[in-house]
Amino acid sequence: MQEDTITLNPSDVIAEGGERMVFAHPDHPFRLIKVVKPRHTEEFNRWTFGHLTQRYIPSARWRPTVKQYDEYRRLMLGRLFDVNFNLPISHLYGFVKTNLGVGCITERVTDADGNNAPTLQKLVRSGRFTDDDLQRLNRFVEELYDVSVCVGDVGPANFVYGHRHIGPSNARSEPSWVLVDGFGDRFAITIRSVSRRVRTMGLDDCFKRSKKVAGLEWVPAQRRYRITARKPARRGVNSSHESLDALNVSP
Ligand SMILES: Nc1ncnc2c1ncn2[C@@H]1O[C@H](COP(=O)(O)OP(=O)(O)O)[C@@H](O)[C@H]1O
Ligand SMILES: [Mg+2]
Repeated sequence: MQEDTITLNPSDVIAEGGERMVFAHPDHPFRLIKVVKPRHTEEFNRWTFGHLTQRYIPSARWRPTVKQYDEYRRLMLGRLFDVNFNLPISHLYGFVKTNLGVGCITERVTDADGNNAPTLQKLVRSGRFTDDDLQRLNRFVEELYDVSVCVGDVGPANFVYGHRHIGPSNARSEPSWVLVDGFGDRFAITIRSVSRRVRTMGLDDCFKRSKKVAGLEWVPAQRRYRITARKPARRGVNSSHESLDALNVSP
């Protein structure tokens, strides 16, 4: 193994989505390394367009990452001198060689103990998603529309609520929502990159189509979420949390 290669052990995965495995960065407590999951040939037994592309154009597997970088660059460089701008998506810090393939280094949003912050899906399922949480979430959704983020997947596992550590000395921010995946223009004709109106339509469409989580509903006309039913919180747990201490919940 070369000196510039980080060794990752698949059993150390701390989170995963449909496409990528997520590892803690061995040298940076506030960064993650995301590696595209390997696919095996037996998974290509269906003759769909998606499967064929993945088999014969392997770079297609990197497309979402490329698109995320494009969007990150668009948002950051579009506000070069705006010191008050809060980036609603996770920061991306380039690539690193790993034994599992190229890894994408990203900001790590954390809970009070430095673990990965909980996702919207996890919070709602835990039964501890309060009205205050809902208000904060809806304010964040407004921000996504205001900033005009280009999105492709706003599923509840792509939103996390926690501390950011992106300032000097990695100082811990107040908890906030962050979109950690699902941004970027997935279409071949990248009209979304140039038109705010098309991006707004894209946001509307994506929220309508996004994966559902029981207890939370998207109201298209209001561009807001609403709570439909609340699971009883587990006993002994305070349901209103100002700090993230109460957010160390299991899925
Ligand atoms: N920046 C981050 N901070 C904290 N947790 C994260 C971050 N990025 C991803 N995660 C966790 O890892 C999971 C999978 O990451 P994601 O980037 O969504 O992978 P995929 O591309 O496979 O969907 C998320 O649902 C979330 O729980
Ligand atoms: Mg995801």
